[in-house]
Amino acid sequence: MYRLLKAAIPMGAGIALACAGSGFAQNNAAAPAFSDEVSKQAGIYQSRGEKVPGGYVTDRSLLAYAAALPPGFRQTLADLGPKDRWLDIGAGRGQAVLDYYTPRYDAMHREGQERRGKKAQSVAMSIEDRRNALWHQTAEKLEAEQIRYLSGRRLREYSAAELGKFALITDVFGGFSYTQYLSLFMEKVLAALEVNGSFYTTLIDVYPENAANRPLKRDTPFLTEIVNADGSRAGICAWLKSISCIAVSCELKSEWEAPIEAYQVRKVCDKATVPALTITHFAAGTPPERRFQAQQMLTGSPAPRNAAR
Ligand SMILES: C[S@@+](CC[C@H](N)C(=O)[O-])C[C@H]1O[C@@H](n2cnc3c(N)ncnc32)[C@H](O)[C@@H]1O
Repeated sequence: MYRLLKAAIPMGAGIALACAGSGFAQNNAAAPAFSDEVSKQAGIYQSRGEKVPGGYVTDRSLLAYAAALPPGFRQTLADLGPKDRWLDIGAGRGQAVLDYYTPRYDAMHREGQERRGKKAQSVAMSIEDRRNALWHQTAEKLEAEQIRYLSGRRLREYSAAELGKFALITDVFGGFSYTQYLSLFMEKVLAALEVNGSFYTTLIDVYPENAANRPLKRDTPFLTEIVNADGSRAGICAWLKSISCIAVSCELKSEWEAPIEAYQVRKVCDKATVPALTITHFAAGTPPERRFQAQQMLTGSPAPRNAAR
């Protein structure tokens, strides 16, 4: 199991292009042109063999997913039945999905095995196709459409009709960690989630949820950060909690080499509104450095942001 995320490796020199307030306020607005960094990032996605950067891990097991995600993930997955659907965004080679269909999974989750039956349908999504022989062998053994692999596009490039609805969506260092369009990404996730469905994800090195209540001695930027209009830092958790129609819990996992914050989002009604975030800094990496400007003041984040880049 990958207990530790291999070091986060920013690839770029940290070029900051401030574009806030210049027409990118809407969730579906085009991101500013960080063209050098974006092409470096594309190089990471397309890297193969020895050229794959050490931090770009694409083969995490289901056990590794369970370690990175909030504890509720295990039970939610185990509770899915044959009529349910699971979407894994940023699935890499899809190892976690393959693990779910093994006899070992049932041996480890005896409870509910009968109800699960032949298990949920799964969709693994990745920008680049990283399937290996094991994926194809497993797909041949399972019923048609039991597992699908979508590649060649990002989440935002799929229509709601193409994706359908899911009871469970996961993202382990996938699009949620890599996208420049975080608020649009969340809109897409919530549109694809059934009411009462859950989205589990995680981020490395963020301004933690409870930081507003205790002194935080940190004057360097976080890998992913949100800045309010007044320059104060906002947490990802505070932003998620400002989205309507969802229930959110955030958990700091400080035992990891680089601390991660894990999120569980349950959709409670249909009309979610996601406060817009505008990207103002992007540097390629595994995952990339990202800074977002919040369009509205996010509460629960009064600490001043000292970092200058
Ligand atoms: C570091 S790999 C993680 C793979 C897998 N989750 C694991 O832990 O082994 C990042 C994955 O996210 C995918 N990805 C990044 N941005 C994405 C987006 N916007 N939509 C869909 N997939 C995305 C990449 O193509 C890749 O499959």
